[in-house]
Amino acid sequence: MSVRKIVTLGNKTLRKISKPVVDFDQSLFELLDDMKTTMLEKRGVGISAVQVGVLRRAIVIQLDDDEFLEIINPEIIKTRGKVNESEGCLSVPGFYCDVERPKYVKISAYNRNGEPFVFEAKDYIARCVCHEIDHLNGVLFVDLTDEGRAYKLEHEVN
Ligand code: CO
Repeated sequence: MSVRKIVTLGNKTLRKISKPVVDFDQSLFELLDDMKTTMLEKRGVGISAVQVGVLRRAIVIQLDDDEFLEIINPEIIKTRGKVNESEGCLSVPGFYCDVERPKYVKISAYNRNGEPFVFEAKDYIARCVCHEIDHLNGVLFVDLTDEGRAYKLEHEVN
C-alpha cells in the first residue's frame, strides 16, 4: 500500500467524468488500498479515485476510527432534507466553506468483489457520500456556493 499524489484544484483531471469500474481485479484492490492509505496520510475522511489521478468510479470513506466503506459505481437512489455545514477537500487544501447537502442519502453500489449493496447515510456521512460522488462527475464543492466560486476563480489556474 502506498501513498499516491493528490490531484489539486487547477488540474483538469478533476473536471473529467470518471468511468465505471468494469474489472473487479487486483489493480482495483491496489487502487482502493492506496486510496485509503493516501486519505489517512493526508487526514481526509473521504477520497475518490480521480483525486489520485485515476478516472474510475471508486470511493473510500472513513465511517469510524477503524471502519471504512468502499463504494464502486454508486448511484443515488434517494435523498431527503437539506443541511448547510462546513466542508473541505483534499484537492482544495486550506479552503473550507458551508455547502448545502441532503440530510439523508440512499445509494446503490458495488463492493470490491463486484457484489451489489445498498447503503443509507445521514448527516456527516451523507455529506461525505454526496461530496465524493460529485467528484466522479467532475464537480467540486467550490462549485456549489458563491464563496467557493470566488475562491475557484482565484485559484483554479490552468
Ligand atoms: Co473532495
